[in-house]
Amino acid sequence: EVVDGKGQILLPGFVDLHTHLREPGREDTETVDSGSAAAARGGYTAVFAMANTDPVADSVVVTDHVWRRGREVGLVDVHPVGAVTVGLEGRQLAEMGTMAAGVGRVKMFSDDGKCVHDPLLMRRALEYSASLGVLIAQHAEEPRLTVGAVAHEGPTAARLGLTGWPRAAEESVVARDALLARDAGARVHICHASTAGTVELVRWARSQGISISAEVTPHHLLLDDSRLESYDGINRVNPPLREKSDVEALRRGLADGTIDCVATDHAPHAEQDKCCEFSQARPGMLGLETALSIVIETMVRPGLLDWRGVAKVMSERPAEIVGLDDQGRPIEVGEPANLVLVDPDTEWTVRGRELASISHNTPYEDMTLPGKVTTTVLRGRITARDGEVFPLTGER
Ligand code: NCD
Ligand code: ZN
Ligand code: ZN
Ligand code: ZN
Repeated sequence: EVVDGKGQILLPGFVDLHTHLREPGREDTETVDSGSAAAARGGYTAVFAMANTDPVADSVVVTDHVWRRGREVGLVDVHPVGAVTVGLEGRQLAEMGTMAAGVGRVKMFSDDGKCVHDPLLMRRALEYSASLGVLIAQHAEEPRLTVGAVAHEGPTAARLGLTGWPRAAEESVVARDALLARDAGARVHICHASTAGTVELVRWARSQGISISAEVTPHHLLLDDSRLESYDGINRVNPPLREKSDVEALRRGLADGTIDCVATDHAPHAEQDKCCEFSQARPGMLGLETALSIVIETMVRPGLLDWRGVAKVMSERPAEIVGLDDQGRPIEVGEPANLVLVDPDTEWTVRGRELASISHNTPYEDMTLPGKVTTTVLRGRITARDGEVFPLTGER
């Protein structure tokens, strides 16, 4: 099949290190099937499915199930993320080695907020991960700093009386885990960096030779706390939307390589959990189908990244961080490739109901965004074209 890419940009398939597919447990909000469709339409050829499912992905039974479902659907390589600790209590390390050795070959383990309670447990987890050669992704949210009257920071949130995650809840964990990773001889990956201080801490840690990487979400690159004025639950997310100065620091940090990559933190939620007042809403936003457009809007248009840079932050760096050997690298002639074609000049208007996800909780409803993925190719096979997806299983 010949694809005419005239006037379009050809990039390596995107790799998302942070996707919530909600399977098992909340198939009413997203499944491997629906999330894979969203990923393919968004230009992704690999996604890392987060561990906070029900049951938690703390055993090879769950991680292998997620991997198998991904392969059956065939729209995107679904890499299961394992949980660092067992269950919801998080007092005990999960059998990371068993998950890493399963058919799902788990490469990344998510703390999901458990080890932040216990620095010694985190240190042991880092030592364990180093011995296995896997990566720990830290959500960097110290819950004990969020209780009581502590507000989202900044004048807007304080005036509105919103409770949430102060910058110190993130930055204290980033600093601590950078030092623990150094002592354990491990690597650590910081999920959804959201503050100017986190950018500085990552820069400092790297200057000390610490093996640290960090991601930023599209929404933290575009949206700021002025959004909170509406009290609309659609804008609730962890970490919260912060001030314009943080947004600018994140953009600069991504441009200069301090922040390694963009990760969506695609977080589907049911209608009743988002279309409500802010304090009642669950945190999280959809991201897979809008990520590229937000990167164009916030990074390419202002001249902070060129297309080479887009390939780096959307594909090459994330693949490298997690050690994918079949993504984000130069392709030999004749080798089946993971590719995405992007029409850079088109604009489109986001409608939650037209997205492939089961849930519709996009914060970009009715916004007109630049650039669209026209074709996604996974190992030489077209998985999405002009919004249509081509799964291996016909049961969508
Ligand atoms: C995520 C979710 O919904 O699972 N929510 C969020 O606001 N980011 C959890 C997480 O990544 O912390
Ligand atoms: Zn998180
Ligand atoms: Zn998340
Ligand atoms: Zn809605």
